[in-house]
Amino acid sequence: VERKATNVHWHDGDVTRDNRAAILGHKGVTLWFTGLSGSGKSTVAVAVEKALAARGVLSYRLDGDNIRLGINSNLGFSAEDRQENIRRVGEISKLFADTGVVVLSSFISPYREDRETVRKMHEDAGLPYMEVFVDCPLEEAESRDPKGLYKKARAGEIKGFTGIDDPYEAPVSPELRLNTAEMTLEQEVEVIIATLQEKGIIA
Ligand code: PPS
Repeated sequence: VERKATNVHWHDGDVTRDNRAAILGHKGVTLWFTGLSGSGKSTVAVAVEKALAARGVLSYRLDGDNIRLGINSNLGFSAEDRQENIRRVGEISKLFADTGVVVLSSFISPYREDRETVRKMHEDAGLPYMEVFVDCPLEEAESRDPKGLYKKARAGEIKGFTGIDDPYEAPVSPELRLNTAEMTLEQEVEVIIATLQEKGIIA
């Protein structure tokens, strides 16, 4: 996006990212959960948050519905608004990750280009980033329909619903792919925790 603010300069403090990691005992990272509505993004994030808390790791969830009730309440579901939604939550994720928190961001984030923007923000800031594809077939997500939104979309009461009459561009090479048809929630949590350990982010 075009930057409107001019004459603004980055200001560093005296406490570094490493200092913060030493205080917390682990590094910050963003885990970016992408997938269809009803795929289980939030469910996995909630379970991971609990498992991390049990290990003394500070994490924080950012979630589409919650964020859209607050800071992004002025955004809808057009391609432009989804792009701005993802840009803002990407920046928020980056800030949290910089504090040393394990950020669990669950957004449909249907456009590959928007997800790549978030990845690049983290790479440019030298922050670890993992895209987690919550891979659930449309038929399965639609049959769960936890909020009754697919039903409304099929009935034409919601226009531009992801997977029905709006696109979802599946990740090509995510760091992790959770095949929700074959894995249990426990297995999904396990593989995420193991990956964070392998990467040296948590002990
Ligand atoms: S996006 O595409 O990443 O900007 O969407 P996100 O911020 O994750 O918000 C998705 C939740 O909004 C509800 N909702 C819709 N989703 C998709 N398409 C349309 N048109 C729509 N309208 C409302 C829905 O509850 C999504 O929640 P989840 O948790 O994904 O089911």
